[in-house]
Amino acid sequence: MRLKSKLLVFAVLFCNLLAFGQTTQGLDPLVQNVYNRHRISLNGYWHYVVDPLETGYYDYRRMPNPDGFFKDHQVDNVSTWKEYDFDTAPVMPVPGDWNTHSDNLFLYEGTIWFRQQFLYTPKSGNKVYLYFGASNYDTKIYLNGTKVGEHEGGYTPFNFDVTDIVKSGNNKLVVKVDNKRRADAVPTNNFDWFNYGGITRDVMLVELPQTFIQSYKVQLKKGTTNTLELKARMSAKTAGQTVTIEIPELKIKQTLTTDASGMASVEVKATPSLWSPESPKLYDVLVSSATDKVNDEIGFRTIETRGREIFLNGKQIFMKGISIHEEAAFRNGRIFSEDEDRTLLNWAKDLGCNYVRLAHYPHNEQMVRLAEKMGLLVWSEIPVYWTIHWEKDYVYANALNQLDEMIERDQNRANIFVWSIANETPHSDPRDKFLSSLAKYAREKDNTRLISMAMERKDKSKEILSINDNMSEYVDIISVNQYVGWYDGTNEKLDRVKWEVDYEKPLMISEFGGEAVFGHHGDVSQIWTEEYQAELYRKTLRMIDERMPYVSGISPWILKDFRSSRRLLPNVQDGFNRKGVISDRGDRKLAFYVLQEWFKKK
Ligand code: GCU
Repeated sequence: MRLKSKLLVFAVLFCNLLAFGQTTQGLDPLVQNVYNRHRISLNGYWHYVVDPLETGYYDYRRMPNPDGFFKDHQVDNVSTWKEYDFDTAPVMPVPGDWNTHSDNLFLYEGTIWFRQQFLYTPKSGNKVYLYFGASNYDTKIYLNGTKVGEHEGGYTPFNFDVTDIVKSGNNKLVVKVDNKRRADAVPTNNFDWFNYGGITRDVMLVELPQTFIQSYKVQLKKGTTNTLELKARMSAKTAGQTVTIEIPELKIKQTLTTDASGMASVEVKATPSLWSPESPKLYDVLVSSATDKVNDEIGFRTIETRGREIFLNGKQIFMKGISIHEEAAFRNGRIFSEDEDRTLLNWAKDLGCNYVRLAHYPHNEQMVRLAEKMGLLVWSEIPVYWTIHWEKDYVYANALNQLDEMIERDQNRANIFVWSIANETPHSDPRDKFLSSLAKYAREKDNTRLISMAMERKDKSKEILSINDNMSEYVDIISVNQYVGWYDGTNEKLDRVKWEVDYEKPLMISEFGGEAVFGHHGDVSQIWTEEYQAELYRKTLRMIDERMPYVSGISPWILKDFRSSRRLLPNVQDGFNRKGVISDRGDRKLAFYVLQEWFKKK
């Protein structure tokens, strides 16, 4: 390649990485298990300013304005020119989505500025981190007029060390949230769920010692039921720090010494009672150092595949699941409370599920922890959804960062059995390169869980359905979304089709379903009726029983009707995807009972 072309390629690569670098600048390594740390909630009613032209960020030549809204200047006399005022601006609850906060923001996609003030008294010797559970989608954070950092991605936590910026007395926190969809984002500008914008999960200050326990991982060593791997990472990357990990009920107390990276680990023999849906046993675990301590509740289990079956704790298990979006029942807004998590998980339990597919992005931390306590296995997924820009390095860096944040937060949750790296992505070499790298990274970071992704069919003929995906060699579980009876023919086709899937790996059906309006009844051949949806479930489940005996799990699409701006049919969809077995108002459709009956027999 000529020198000029090489320089051009280098320049493009550098700009790409610079672009992504801009959207994750200032991030500090994630503090794990913040809910068990010394924290000060910043949740509450925040003032907000709707800024569709980003006047608060750019000047009239569209250049970043150093004196933008993040300065939160006070108007101190009649001669001060300023065209925004947080003090007199309206307020909205944080966490929350702005779309369901007020009708005139329902379809708003753009920037909203948030401002919260808080009194703080620094404790000498402490570090202070500013932690966001999630904010959708592009977030820029300023404290007392100083840029703290940025984060791109709408569904994973992030934090910043603000020790040197927070001050004694009143502090002003200004946050720019932009939920504009972009073709080069993760997800792209094209997805089948509602683009809820805002600071959608908890915001808090986390007070930490100068040197603190950054993260830890306490799990059964892969492939064993009698060896625990105890790992801890200190915030200081120095050797010789002492860290103690205790599990009193197992009479384990191990004192470790960190290496030069601040990491310490050891293997110990133990035979814990294993976590399972039937017995979701959790142990108190205490991690402590000379200056810090944090406790957690951790379960131990093994998950593996043998041929076409999945084994939990050495016993074959059929994954009786349902897919779930993070949307509150009844209210139909982005979930931000544990009670709203509980409602959905109770519905999954009522169905007879032992597993929930948390689609298509990491749900909030409480959802995962609650599911763990309720005995529900979890499929956790990053929103690498549909037509991602596979060949842009900064897009890969974004997806990788979201994967890392997902695993970093939840690596101690026994109920997570799958890290899913994609959903319904079109076949191509750049896509295979992108996804196989993500799969490799996930395995290196956490080899105690399985890797999967929701694939699409690649049939052998109109009547012989199959999957033929290069990614099958990189995943532990082959998983497919199939919509025979809805997008592919009508219900009668389900009686005719055959499947030929030749992989010697477990096969899960990660999605099937059809839409129905609750209370709309008619003949089973009549689309949009509850009867049609129920018949689709009956025939699909019969197809699995009779012609797909090797299927090792299902998670039908979906538990509850959910908002989507793709769903426009008046008097039927009205902005909702109606594939729920439960309506957006909590009513159980006929298909709910068909699935419930089938699970009972499994
Ligand atoms: C796809 C996709 C879902 C979508 C569903 C549907 O399988 O994974 O996100 O909502 O189909 O079309 O209803």
